[in-house]
Amino acid sequence: MTSTTYAERRGQLTTYFDRTAVEAWARLTSDAPVSKIRATVRAGRDAMRGTLLSWLPDDLSGRRILDAGCGTGALSLEAARRGAEVVAIDVSATLVGLAAERTGTIAGGGSIDFRVGDMLDPSLGRFDHVVAMDSLIHYSAADIARALAVLGERTDGSVVFTVAPRTALLTVMHAAGKLFPKGDRAPAIVPITLGALDRRIGREPALAEFALARTHRVNSGFYLSNAIELSRSRA
Ligand SMILES: C[S@@+](CC[C@H](N)C(=O)[O-])C[C@H]1O[C@@H](n2cnc3c(N)ncnc32)[C@H](O)[C@@H]1O
Repeated sequence: MTSTTYAERRGQLTTYFDRTAVEAWARLTSDAPVSKIRATVRAGRDAMRGTLLSWLPDDLSGRRILDAGCGTGALSLEAARRGAEVVAIDVSATLVGLAAERTGTIAGGGSIDFRVGDMLDPSLGRFDHVVAMDSLIHYSAADIARALAVLGERTDGSVVFTVAPRTALLTVMHAAGKLFPKGDRAPAIVPITLGALDRRIGREPALAEFALARTHRVNSGFYLSNAIELSRSRA
């Protein structure tokens, strides 16, 4: 049986998000006009970002937040505007560069420390909250659970992230196929069953103190993603 390891998949994603799809991502994450299909994706992603941000405390002053797989940085910017000290990391140096360019001056007292690299790098330190929006969706359930365990160990509050739900496999496949033209298709999205992921999370000792606090599905045309919050039970 062949399975892609975390490192292999991260390598494919680096190539994809640092070269193949840079133009498409820059456009999708801007205000520039896009096709009808991509407009549904943009709307879904806006709604998802809003959901994840609404699960964090309103006042983020002095809170350390990891934006794991920050892409072009929209979530980081909103968190920083609410006062957070954000560490924004992505394997794509090009997208991180674009994010830094787009950030400008931050009103609201927060800050963003942009980094190029792996979200699991231990040198990033401890966090109050970790957010991983659509950055784990290309990894296997086993790799997601392991990544959550690594991140959870360094998190005092909550880890909020998204997965592609398995129940609407067809929609996900359509979305993956049609979002970008043939030449710059993404590495496959891995649909996940919430129950199965929950069981894997339950088997991770590092996540023993975390509970699945809430979930929310966003389905907007060709965008389909499930938000999940893992919270330290004592929080
Ligand atoms: C679908 S994009 C989402 C970007 C951003 N979170 C957003 O919602 O706009 C996924 C991002 O995760 C990044 N990524 C994937 N695996 C990563 C890893 N192991 N460490 C850091 N970034 C990663 C990719 O380079 C890509 O920019």
